[in-house]
Amino acid sequence: MAYASLGEIYQRFGFYISYTFIMSPNGLPTALSVDYPRLKQRLLTLAQIGEIDGGGCARLALTDEDKIGRDLVVEWMRELGLDITIDRVGNVVGVWNVGSGAPVMTGSHIDTVRTGGKYDGNLGVLAGLEVIQTCQEHKIIPHRPLAVAFFSNEEGARFAPDMFGSLVYVGDMSLETALDTISIDGKRYGDELERIGYAGSAPCPGITPHSFIELHIEQGPVLEQRGTTIGAVTGVQGISWQEITVTGQSNHAGTTPMSLRHDPAYVAARIAVFLRELSTKFGGHQVCTVGKIDLHPNLINVVPATAVLTVDIRNTDELVLQQAESELRDFLLTLAADEGVTISSRVLARFEPVDFNEELINLVETLAHNNGLSVMRMPSGAGHDAQMLARVCPTAMIFVPSVKGISHNPAEFTSDEDLAAGAQLLLQCMLQMANSGGTQ
Ligand code: GLV
Ligand code: MN
Ligand code: MN
Repeated sequence: MAYASLGEIYQRFGFYISYTFIMSPNGLPTALSVDYPRLKQRLLTLAQIGEIDGGGCARLALTDEDKIGRDLVVEWMRELGLDITIDRVGNVVGVWNVGSGAPVMTGSHIDTVRTGGKYDGNLGVLAGLEVIQTCQEHKIIPHRPLAVAFFSNEEGARFAPDMFGSLVYVGDMSLETALDTISIDGKRYGDELERIGYAGSAPCPGITPHSFIELHIEQGPVLEQRGTTIGAVTGVQGISWQEITVTGQSNHAGTTPMSLRHDPAYVAARIAVFLRELSTKFGGHQVCTVGKIDLHPNLINVVPATAVLTVDIRNTDELVLQQAESELRDFLLTLAADEGVTISSRVLARFEPVDFNEELINLVETLAHNNGLSVMRMPSGAGHDAQMLARVCPTAMIFVPSVKGISHNPAEFTSDEDLAAGAQLLLQCMLQMANSGGTQ
């Protein structure tokens, strides 16, 4: 971003952020600004790893593609002279060790779903690098260290639950449980971590940051629909994941009368329909998804023996989320009896809704206003590493718009202007967090 005149700088950023002014060679103050083309270049370079049709990425956690992506980001951390630690669950933290006290941390994840986009997670990590590099180049020394992290397996698409690495980082999942988790392709987490060379030695839980802030694309339609550039994220909705196994009677598709069937495919379909109707009935923030159905033996002329399906239920209100879980439980009992099948379920993830730190939400709002950016408060529909960090330190998030609200899809897109605005705001928030108050 280049600004033509001092007037333009003041109009855009205001006097409020005077500490982010630097002296240019001609002696005039100029606004401290991230180098957006450099950030974009890194986003595009990382996106080439595991590239898929449509311009997206497939870097499922602990696959070869994840390893190559990790190596690249670690190399960039090295170039900035960061102190890099890799912990026993594979989280990578790079610290710019200036100032004193606990670091102000930012970061996110670089693993993706199998049909991921370029920005989900990657933006937060690479914008963190850009913040540090901008400060280094302009000799801005914050009062506290700045850290950027990428947490392992945020997506949970290969190893459940999601936010896996950050959950272990804050000490709320044991290392043993994490390492023994089995993936959807039958591999043990600990073995895959060793295989890609990211079974580090730093302890879990990791160091407690002074505070944490994550920049992320919204992944939903709200900001775009409202014509707003910045979301000051108030918290993250509760998440309930389960895997349901339906066992029936496999049989010939032509000879078995409908009245004598015990059909897992039919039951799986009924569950999906029930969840859609339940979401409509509850309204508000209620969302339910059946994202995966595996039938066995999965053949055209065979009534299946089993169906294994996943259910993802989310709500911003814990009591409503519990009500949805309870209605699903009752429905499964009735359904099993009606169709003469057995149904079992296994919890894959369960996180209550999270509220972010009020002071930091205000900071995001205030600095966005001062930059002349439109801003609104909003909850997050997606899960994020920040929701785990919120368990141990003051935490907030910045959202930028997702075009058409599309994410977990190669078509995921955010404009350069919005990406740059988000990164610039992250820079200002981190400096303010590092330079104000607290001695921890
Ligand atoms: C993680 O990205 C999730 O919200 O599913
Ligand atoms: Mn993400
Ligand atoms: Mn995601």
